[in-house]
Parts: sequence; structure tokens; C-alpha cells
Amino acid sequence: MSVLADLRARFSRERVKLQLDDIQALILRSRPEPYVGLHAMLHVDEAEGGRDLVRRLAPHIPAADDWTDDMDAWTGVAISHAGLKALGVPEASLKSFPLPFQKGMAARAEQLRDFGENAPDRWEDAFRPGTCHIALTIYARDEDALEKAIKVAMTELEASHGVTLVGTHSFGADADAKNPFGFRDSISQPTVAGGGVDPRGDERAIAAGEFILGENSETGAPVAMPEPAPLGRNGSFVVLRKYQSAVGAFNDFIRANADSEADQEKLAAKMFGRWRSGAPLILAPDHDDEALGADRSRNNDFNFAEDPKGLVCPHSAHMRRLNPRDSQLTILTDVNIHRIIRRSSTFGPKWTPDVTAADDAKDDRGIFFIFISARAYDTIEFLQQEWINRGNFIDLGTEKDPIVALHEEPGTFTIPQEPARKRVNGVTTFNRLMGGEYLFMPSLTALRWIGEAGWH
Ligand code: HEM
Repeated sequence: MSVLADLRARFSRERVKLQLDDIQALILRSRPEPYVGLHAMLHVDEAEGGRDLVRRLAPHIPAADDWTDDMDAWTGVAISHAGLKALGVPEASLKSFPLPFQKGMAARAEQLRDFGENAPDRWEDAFRPGTCHIALTIYARDEDALEKAIKVAMTELEASHGVTLVGTHSFGADADAKNPFGFRDSISQPTVAGGGVDPRGDERAIAAGEFILGENSETGAPVAMPEPAPLGRNGSFVVLRKYQSAVGAFNDFIRANADSEADQEKLAAKMFGRWRSGAPLILAPDHDDEALGADRSRNNDFNFAEDPKGLVCPHSAHMRRLNPRDSQLTILTDVNIHRIIRRSSTFGPKWTPDVTAADDAKDDRGIFFIFISARAYDTIEFLQQEWINRGNFIDLGTEKDPIVALHEEPGTFTIPQEPARKRVNGVTTFNRLMGGEYLFMPSLTALRWIGEAGWH
């Protein structure tokens, strides 16, 4: 069953509490499988020209009304703080945005632990501070639909003036939605309360204000919203981080640290928390289970209560670190305020086991890691500091996330076992940061407000 068909089966219009006709479709709508798409980064050279483009684009940005229905393609638009400024948004509004967003991602390198090979001075040109003003993302089910959607956007761009296209990047994945490492991705997503879809099994819906500005969050009140209301309400924030994946180095690492092919696959699964098919270790402890991985009614229906010691799924597995669910944590936190809607996209050649570290320099493989949350800038800074680049919260001292952490020195991955735990050394930076930005994803009202200079 496709991801949208599955959501549709659980959707009921009577349960909708959100203003879906004002929220960008991309916030709620999952990617199709298979998918293709394009990211386009634009720089606004001249405010009126930029607003003209926003005005022209607004009618092509679908709302979330029918977010569980099939669509051939859809476009989302997000704007950086520098972009809002370049578009002429008044100072009072610019100042009402949260500080990290105002500063931009590069200026927050310290809080994000983006040092060394991940530091902003090593980033690609499109991500140099102040360069990416508007980011357009198009998702499509096939090349034909993508081409049509690109043509619509490019026609509007050509008809406007004062805006420069600073970069485009194509992406896509097969029906099994595997990422560059050959693992199925984007399985676990929060259920947004009021979106119309019932959560499954033991899962509970997350308060809409965690994702949609103006709605009540998990704390019972909305998070701070940019002003005025037509600009802030029904919008959200986006974290965009482009990673180059060292798939060959990862393949070599698992080959060097496990003998048989089966053991190598198991080590890789322990590092991610799921097998390649997407089957979670908790439900398939010993070997991959393709049917389970593909079954949306079962592949995310688990927690960690039965595995307190991490004997099945290590505490340090990427997936368990980034959503510890009901794990006992040494440093307490409410996991429900750190949930994120992931909209990442994969680019580059498909994974094969024979890729080695020597191939990494010539192959362009990676992930546009993208997520949406009403507190996206706070969440990513927390995740980077605590759950990715440290191990204290799970009693593992300085041990870092084995998949996405920055390893300035080779690190360790701990696999709990009895009688003695196993420690695998030599973990390197398997995903190198090539750039990123904090973006604001306005509502459809806000897009018109910006395009028409609603402050006048
Ligand atoms: C760039 C390379 C990355 C790769 C290859 C990767 C891979 C994966 C895979 C295979 C899964 C399990 C499948 C799923 O549940 O969807 C997963 C889950 C997840 N990842 Fe990543 N990821 C990457 C980056 C990140 C980053 C940078 C973050 C956070 C800042 C992150 C946060 C998450 C979260 C929250 C989950 C879901 C956990 C859950 O709800 O169970 N990932 N990732």
C-alpha cells in the first residue's frame, strides 16, 4: 500500500481541526514512492522583483486540503530571514522571528557543532550566508510530472525580474525509497493532531502547535509566532542540511568489523536501528524481514520498553537516539517536543555493496536532510548538541551518533551484549555537511501578504 493510500485509509474529514486550506501541502503530505524532484535556491536582488515572483508563485503552491490524495506533483516554498529582509518585510516583523532563525544556520555553527570538515567556510556556494533567500522544492511521482512542474516555476521565474537562480539540485529514489546507504527511509513520522489521520497502535498524536504556528503545542500554548498574524499563522519552520554521504567508507567499516555477510548486515542494522527493508530491530531482532519492512501497519508499531538494556536495538543506534520513544534516559527530556516531520530527499547513484571508500571522492551521493517543525531551529540545535554529538543522555559519555555525527577523531559504537558489551572502533564522519539554512515556510495567506506587500 502506498504511503498516501495508507494515510487516506486512516483519514476522516470530521477529525480535521486545522486550517488545511491555508497550510502548505508539503508540510503534511509525504513524498510519493517512487519520487523524483528538484530543489531550487533563489537569491532576491531587488525587493519588488522578488515580491512579484512570490505573487506569481503563490497560486502554484497547493494547500493541504487534500493532503492524503494522490497528486502528480507539488511545490513548496520556504524563505530565509535574509530572504524576508531582501523582499522588504518590515523591520518590526523581521525582529519578531526567533533569534537563531534571524542569524541563519551558518552563524549558529557553534550551537550546531558544525566544526572542522562541517564548518560553514567549507560549504557549497549556494549556502554561503545570505545567498539562499527562497528555496523551492518540487516533489513528483515521475519525470513527466516533474518536468511540467519545473516548467511552471521556471516560466514564472523568467517572467519576473530581480531574482537570480543560484542553484538547482535533482533528487529521487525508487519505489522502495532507499537512501544512499541502501536503507529504507522516512518511515517514522509524527501524527499531527487535527490533521484528520488517526494515530496507529500505541502511538499518540502530537499537538499540532509543534508543527503549525498558532496552534497549541505540547506545552498547551502556541510557540512564539512571527508578527503580524497574517505572516506567522499556519506557517512553520524548516531545517535544510545538505549531506554528502561517504557510502564507501561506511561499507568498508562494516566489512572491516564483521566477518560474514550476515554479520556485516547485522552491524549496519544495529547502527541504524532498522534493517535495510525498514524492518525495526525490535520486531525483527535476528535478520531482515522484507514483508515487515514494507508493512506500514507494523513497521513503526513498537517501543523500547522491552529492551531497556539495548540488547536488541543499541541505545546508540541512529533511530533510537533521534527518537528514544519510551527509553529510560539519563538526562530527562520530553521526547514529544523534539518530534520532526522529515521530508529528506536522496540523490546520487543507487547503493551497491561493492562501493568502497575510493569511490566516495568521485560519486556524488547524499541526502538533503529536511525537516519541518514550529521550533525547528531549537530542535536541530538540541539534537546536534545532545542526541547526535554526545552520549551522556544514554550513559555513553562522549560516544556520538554513528551515522550523522561529526567525528573529528575516529569514534566508537557500543553494542550492548551479555555478558560483555562490544565496542566497535573506527567510526568516521559518514555524512559530511555541505551546507544548510534555516527557512520559514509561510502559509498561503502569508505568501500573498509578502507578495502584495501587505504591510502597506
Ligand atoms: C544525513 C544522513 C542520514 C541518514 C542516512 C539517516 C537515516 C535514517 C534511517 C535509515 C532511519 C530509519 C528509518 C525511519 O524511521 O525513517 C532514520 C530515522 C530517523 N532519523 Fe535519520 N538519517 C540521517 C540524518 C538525520 C539527521 C541529521 C537527523 C536529525 C537531526 C535525523 C533524524 C532522524 C529521526 C528523528 C528518525 C526517526 C526516528 C523514529 O521516529 O523512530 N536523521 N534516519
